[in-house]
Amino acid sequence: MAAGVGFVLGLVALVFLHHATAQTVHDVGGTTGWTVPPSGGPAFYSDWAANKIFRVGDSLRFNFQTNNHDVFEVSKESFDSCTFNPTDDDIIRAGPATVTLNDTEMHYFVCTVGPHCSLGQKLSINVVSAAAGGPISPSSPAPPSTVLPPPSPSSSNSLSATLYLSFSAILMTFF
Ligand code: CU
Repeated sequence: MAAGVGFVLGLVALVFLHHATAQTVHDVGGTTGWTVPPSGGPAFYSDWAANKIFRVGDSLRFNFQTNNHDVFEVSKESFDSCTFNPTDDDIIRAGPATVTLNDTEMHYFVCTVGPHCSLGQKLSINVVSAAAGGPISPSSPAPPSTVLPPPSPSSSNSLSATLYLSFSAILMTFF
């Protein structure tokens, strides 16, 4: 029976894992991380963002070492001109830094260290609603056409109960 309980718990864990993966953590710049682009200048981060969909609830993970870089969300004007207050309290100075995307609008991030912003360490992204569709990039497989509505906590519980009852029935059939 212990194995059975383990199996049910595994199923429940899968259900919750599935929910958890609905929020994507985007590693900014991929393996390059958050730094002065080695090549391409400002195009580096716009290229990185170009084939991705950023949804409310997703996060950006800026991978950098504290003191080498920082993260500052700024206005479009500051972003375009790389001008900002380098002592602003909202600058995130500890790396790596994770920023959750909470609203549907353009977001602009820069590094305020030295000339890094001017050298291309800047990222602008458009955040869409959690349910919004969008262009499907080759790297993100298209969702199945029969998508179930996101279960509420209560229906999630009933799904877990259903899984448990189903498994109990299987157990009783075989044992
Ligand atoms: Cu920097």
